[in-house]
Amino acid sequence: MTNSGWQAALGVVCAGVLASSIPAAAQSGQPGGGGGGVGAPFKAPVISDTASLGGPRQPIFFRHDVHAGQDRIPCLYCHYTVAVSSEPGIPALQTCIGCHQIIGGSAPSHQVEIQKVRKAWSDRQPPQWIRIHALPGFVRFPHQRHIKVLGTNACAMCHGQVDTMAQVSQVSTLRMGWCVSCHAERKVTQDCTVCHY
Ligand code: HEC
Ligand code: HEC
Ligand code: HEC
Ligand code: HEC
Ligand code: HEC
Repeated sequence: MTNSGWQAALGVVCAGVLASSIPAAAQSGQPGGGGGGVGAPFKAPVISDTASLGGPRQPIFFRHDVHAGQDRIPCLYCHYTVAVSSEPGIPALQTCIGCHQIIGGSAPSHQVEIQKVRKAWSDRQPPQWIRIHALPGFVRFPHQRHIKVLGTNACAMCHGQVDTMAQVSQVSTLRMGWCVSCHAERKVTQDCTVCHY
């Protein structure tokens, strides 16, 4: 099992919760599955100026550099449908609360944001996350086909080093030329009808 590292990092209390709640698909994910996170321990920085961060401001300041980087929670723990569905999906609050009914946060800035997670849960008002990557409706992008061939650690190829991002922003253009050049490089079909309905 490859989870021991990041579970140990989160401590025994949390490990109990995690072991029982990890979706099967996530268990094959590598720690720091976005690439680059494996190796030297990563310490997420303290951020006082959020205005300078890339990407949209989300309703809760959820940090990938804390979860996926510092605490090494595998990408697939939260985005567990990535390998089986054309939509990786954003995790339900249920996934968060498994840890956050116990973890209240160390720094005061963390405590404030985690409080929002708990309130959203008790009010049954899931956060309205702002979608960042979005292709036009006439394009077909089967996410799972890519993961199957490129691997569960391939996230960084298209999304950049999400595990060091405090706030997610789009790093690839997602333009047709970007898709087609990788398909050409990897000898994947470039038929118009494969990507266009
Ligand atoms: C603890 C749960 C959790 C983990 C672990 C996690 N994510 Fe996320 N991810 C989220 C949530 C919640 C959002 C929506 C809020 C946001 O955009 O930050 C999100 C958003 C994203 C988005 C933007 C989606 C969009 O709207 O386009 C990408 C890309 C992404 N994650 C990739 C990754 C990658 C790659 C990893 C591993 C390095 C990872 N995530 C690990 C919970 C998680
Ligand atoms: C596997 C356990 C785990 C899961 C699942 C998890 N978290 Fe966390 N989260 C942590 C840990 C550990 C910290 C760091 C706590 C500290 O030391 O302040 C943290 C910190 C946070 C913080 C404060 C730091 C930051 O990211 O801004 C927020 C907000 C947060 N989590 C929201 C969420 C949300 C929303 C989800 C679900 C999408 C989620 N967490 C899922 C373990 C988890
Ligand atoms: C070949 C490029 C590629 C790879 C590899 C890739 N993605 Fe994506 N991802 C995309 C594109 C393109 C979109 C936008 C899809 C759309 O709008 O239909 C996207 C969308 C997403 C979203 C938002 C979808 C939603 O439902 O809100 C998440 C989350 C995400 N990817 C996570 C991941 C994770 C985690 C990995 C690694 C396991 C990964 N991606 C690997 C290209 C990629
Ligand atoms: C990093 C390289 C890479 C990028 C970028 C990429 N793809 Fe792919 N694509 C692949 C690979 C590898 C496959 C898997 C081929 C297979 O299943 O053998 C694939 C398969 C596909 C398929 C299924 C093909 C089939 O035979 O049914 C579609 C559709 C597709 N990609 C669309 C896109 C679109 C749309 C984009 C841009 C938004 C994109 N891809 C970007 C590498 C890439
Ligand atoms: C690997 C996937 C892929 C293949 C193959 C592909 N396209 Fe696209 N195409 C896209 C994506 C993604 C977009 C949307 C982003 C953009 O406009 O660059 C797009 C956009 C377009 C647009 C709209 C451009 C605009 O400015 O609105 C046209 C027209 C188009 N494609 C025609 C074609 C034709 C004709 C072929 C075959 C020769 C083809 N595409 C092959 C991925 C693909």
